[in-house]
Amino acid sequence: MKRISLTRHLVEEQRLNNTIPAELRLLIEVVARACKTISHAVGKGALGEVLGSAESENVQGEVQKKLDILSNEILLEANEWGGHLAAMASEEMETIHPIPNRYPMGEYLLLFDPLDGSSNIDVNVSIGTIFSVLKARDGMEAPTEQDFMQPGSKQVAAGYAVYGPQTMLVLTTGHGVNCFTLDREMGSWVLTQRNMQIPEDTQEFAINASNARHWHPPVTRYVNEMQEGATGPLGKDFNMRWIASMVADVHRILNRGGIFMYPADARDPGKPGKLRLMYEANPMSMIVEQAGGAATDGKQRMLDVQPTTLHQRVPVFLGSKNEVERVTRYHQE
Ligand code: AHG
Ligand code: MN
Ligand code: MN
Repeated sequence: MKRISLTRHLVEEQRLNNTIPAELRLLIEVVARACKTISHAVGKGALGEVLGSAESENVQGEVQKKLDILSNEILLEANEWGGHLAAMASEEMETIHPIPNRYPMGEYLLLFDPLDGSSNIDVNVSIGTIFSVLKARDGMEAPTEQDFMQPGSKQVAAGYAVYGPQTMLVLTTGHGVNCFTLDREMGSWVLTQRNMQIPEDTQEFAINASNARHWHPPVTRYVNEMQEGATGPLGKDFNMRWIASMVADVHRILNRGGIFMYPADARDPGKPGKLRLMYEANPMSMIVEQAGGAATDGKQRMLDVQPTTLHQRVPVFLGSKNEVERVTRYHQE
């Protein structure tokens, strides 16, 4: 097998599509290297003393795990010095992190969910890192939170690493989706899947069904119809999977189709869903669209949602196109 490294892929993609200038290539390689470091820490588990709670809370009031904090630090440190970024924002930090002025400032903004699927860390189930890249406004001197308030359609790159039986990196720069597997012996990312495609139809759905009693009517209707199976209105049987790591659920959907839902519900009108627009919904929606799938917030295309705050939450419906369109239509009826 001819091995194509991440670096070679990025260089060739730049030649072909002109979408990965040198600074963006550096950014992606630095993020990929940081994910390698996180993967190493994850793989050590108890032996590396990385499991368990950090006994602190993030800005969203969620208890932080040691690995949430460690992964955040790894990503921050890796990305500070390269001159490719103006600022970073993370699920684990209250405010944006401008590049310290001892380093040159670049033209990109990086956002990340350093450790996705935190509840799975201590039980050895797949977890991941999600990232999103925006362009800073021209001539910017001091980045502010406002500079990050760009809809997902403005992302120039998005990706995730999944720390599972294999460590993989899934990446898009707006010309399809490619997957790289970490060669642990060599320490290199090797291209293993080109141009991933999500089938338009599916018979598999992912939702946390323990929240069923709180769902709004369109979600209840849709899930009921799927559960009615071959003799119900959808005319086919559905299987269900829920990993509680968005990264792992999306990775399955990229490989064999499916629909992932984390809806808003009737509990707290001030909390529209659980997942975060900037660190989870937008990057995953760009990847899913680039693989031929669809992503909405139930009402509109996710990538068109205009963000208003850094940590805002959104309802999420993404995956196989025809099913995402169906549940979105149910919201409109
Ligand atoms: P995080 O660990 O970054 O807070 O994200 C967890 C998210 C997402 O990965 C997953 O799909 C969802 O929360 C799981 O939610 P439930 O605990 O409600 O199943
Ligand atoms: Mn997450
Ligand atoms: Mn997280």
